[in-house]
Amino acid sequence: MTSNRRISILAAAAALVAGPALADDVVTVGLIVPMTGQQATTGKQEQAGANLYIQLHGDTVAGKKIVLEVKDDAGAPDVTKRLAQDLIANDNAKALMGFGLTPLALAVAPVATEAKVPEIVTAAATAMITEKSPYIVRTSFTLPQAAAPMAQWCLKNNIHKVVTLVADYGPGNDAEKWFGDVFEKGGGQIVEKIRTPLKAPDFAPFLQRVKDDAPEALFVFLPSGQGAAFMKEFAERGLDKSGVRLIATGDVTDDDQLADMGDAALGVVTTHHYSAAHDSPENKAFVAAFEKANAGMRPNFMAVAAYDGMALLYQALDKTKGATDGDALIAAMKGMSWTSPRGPVSIDPDTRDIVQNIYVRKVEKVDGALYNVEFDAIPAVKDPYKAAKQ
Ligand code: PHB
Repeated sequence: MTSNRRISILAAAAALVAGPALADDVVTVGLIVPMTGQQATTGKQEQAGANLYIQLHGDTVAGKKIVLEVKDDAGAPDVTKRLAQDLIANDNAKALMGFGLTPLALAVAPVATEAKVPEIVTAAATAMITEKSPYIVRTSFTLPQAAAPMAQWCLKNNIHKVVTLVADYGPGNDAEKWFGDVFEKGGGQIVEKIRTPLKAPDFAPFLQRVKDDAPEALFVFLPSGQGAAFMKEFAERGLDKSGVRLIATGDVTDDDQLADMGDAALGVVTTHHYSAAHDSPENKAFVAAFEKANAGMRPNFMAVAAYDGMALLYQALDKTKGATDGDALIAAMKGMSWTSPRGPVSIDPDTRDIVQNIYVRKVEKVDGALYNVEFDAIPAVKDPYKAAKQ
């Protein structure tokens, strides 16, 4: 054998040894979100948030290289499920993230359970989602967490008669129930409960009913992406000048769309866990870096939840010293706490849901642009739906 040939055989043998080791050094994370269709803004915000985390913290943690695979499910649950299965079987994904709507997160729950792969829910917000698999951890929020404080604010601020209007599916039902129950328990009256279709809603006939009811306030939950269309119709029907006060969860005055909503949004009071105007050094740095990396975009609560989903995974990998076993990662995530751009957060070890401050905010103009300006905070709010069951 020539010495050249011997060297090439040795090189081939070395490559065989190095090959599997290299594959083990990669942790593939599947981000499954709607990048097209009605919920496309959620996908774009989530992708930008996750990428920003990697950009700012490096793509290596505990000796592992993080590779983010972004997949578009166009908001269809059967597609979400198939993409989750493909990512695990073909790409050896060690964590799945995203899920822009509740039915999309639910479709993946049995896949996560069977494969023992963490499902980090960074968008969907119906309270019961985390009960559907022991491998689900959530960094977004729950609707009971956001809606119950809004009812308390009304009771404190002399609002007694309210109509509720919610999108007719999981998170809308949660918002209607938790706003309504807390409000009625405190002596308030729900005049009417209105539900609007999730797909392509026409708000005009529903707003006519609100006008006829003439309540003191209208409480609204709509998923991220529908707020601008609603606000336009609210103003066109003259409701902004009718004396009906608009109150909502922060999904409606979503930072992704707020700047274009116009003056009809001024004064709208909402409760939520994130505002781009949150006054902290961490958030100022986050918003500046986000706007620099994504020209023309302002981060919303979807972007921050995906950013925090990556933060959670990085910290968990650090704790497991790079081990990617699903049970070890979930155990590491339970009880984890850190400072998010939204403020202090932690993962409730019993429910795997995020514990976070809920802020009371009012839409105001700051340097000529509309923002949700926080004026009160309820610290360390746990999901009340699960707290009530414990
Ligand atoms: C959901 O479908 O769970 C969902 C989507 C968008 C939101 C909130 C909840 O803004």
